[in-house]
Amino acid sequence: MRVLVTGGAGFIGSNFVQQTVRERPGDDVTVLDALTYAGDRASLDPVADRVRLVEGDVADADLVDALVAEADLVVHFAAESHNDNSLTDPSPFVRTNLVGTFTLLEAVRRHGVRYHHVSTDEVFGDLPLRVEGDPATQERFTERTPYNPSSPYSSTKAGSDLLVRAWVRSFGLEATLSNCSNNYGPYQHVEKFVPRQITNLLDGVRPKVYGAGLNVRDWIHVEDHNTAVWTVIERGTPGETYLIGADGETSNLDVVRTLLDLFGRAPDEFDHVTDRAGHDLRYAIDATRLRTELGWTPRYTDFRAGLEATVAWYRENESWWRPRKAATEARYRASGQG
Ligand code: NAD
Ligand code: DAU
Repeated sequence: MRVLVTGGAGFIGSNFVQQTVRERPGDDVTVLDALTYAGDRASLDPVADRVRLVEGDVADADLVDALVAEADLVVHFAAESHNDNSLTDPSPFVRTNLVGTFTLLEAVRRHGVRYHHVSTDEVFGDLPLRVEGDPATQERFTERTPYNPSSPYSSTKAGSDLLVRAWVRSFGLEATLSNCSNNYGPYQHVEKFVPRQITNLLDGVRPKVYGAGLNVRDWIHVEDHNTAVWTVIERGTPGETYLIGADGETSNLDVVRTLLDLFGRAPDEFDHVTDRAGHDLRYAIDATRLRTELGWTPRYTDFRAGLEATVAWYRENESWWRPRKAATEARYRASGQG
């Protein structure tokens, strides 16, 4: 199969490409990636001789048309992905996440190519924090939860999902969608929560927690996300949406305390910094449909062990993350989150 992976030099996309090359040696993989600040050729180094990397924009209609014409399957990861950046300047989010997805959909429609759309649980907005004994606070997202995004990032992702659904209904596109919770693992940009704190700790800097740190994210290892994406591509029903999650609800405070413990530091050796505007409280995925209808199960069920392996990866791969660390921290300092 000829697979076109957009955003394949980013965090989840590069893990997807590496996994695909490893586990599907017969597939022919092309990556389309604009190599923005978030993309890095080096993330594909382990498979560089097995993958074609095309540097280009998903909103470039001519380039996208030519690449889609040569593909049997498009897996669309490319996006502007960081909430904090979307609060500073939403414009690249509108262009890449909305216009980019539209451009791909039109090409896929013209050439009759199978399409998988990678999206996020943030399209649903947030849930109340759990209160023990209060059933009204135990809800999780399902495929039927209405869209209610909070940030420029999540609203552009929600818009892109709706474009896909409309192209399925109006033009009969052969497409599936997946909405996944927070990923962690190797090759994640140091702007994101987990790698930011790991690399701070490696540098002897105290972790930075937004606000009180009670916000909850539903953590899943990136490899489990990607096995689920392949499961949906191979066994999902065209036109349908599947939620991806691995029962990993954890508060930001607990993530930071686990990391501190892994580094042999005291549980209070972190700083509270300015909270994110409009900060979503809790995300939680009910992945029953994916597990029961498609038979998917996650491999990384021990979050602490997954974090420990991720710490080891960042420790051993300083040359990968170091070039971006200083500029990222300078941006955070400028917004009171340094
Ligand atoms: P990332 O920011 O690490 O990578 C995004 C990649 O897209 C980069 O390589 C970047 O260069 C590329 N890109 C950006 N704009 C582009 C453009 N106009 N044309 C071509 N390439 C472009 O993001 P990520 O965390 O790997 O997320 C990948 C996808 O998964 C996104 O669609 C995101 O919404 C979704 N997602 C992420 C998470 C998460 O926890 N990170 C969870 C659920 C869903
Ligand atoms: O839920 C899926 C989403 O997860 C994806 O769609 C996004 O692309 C991805 O970036 C992620 O969004 P979040 O905003 O949840 O991730 P982030 O890593 O930015 O932050 C995770 C939590 O940690 C959030 O509650 C904010 C908080 N945080 C973040 C940073 C960078 C801190 O407390 N301190 C920090 O320094």
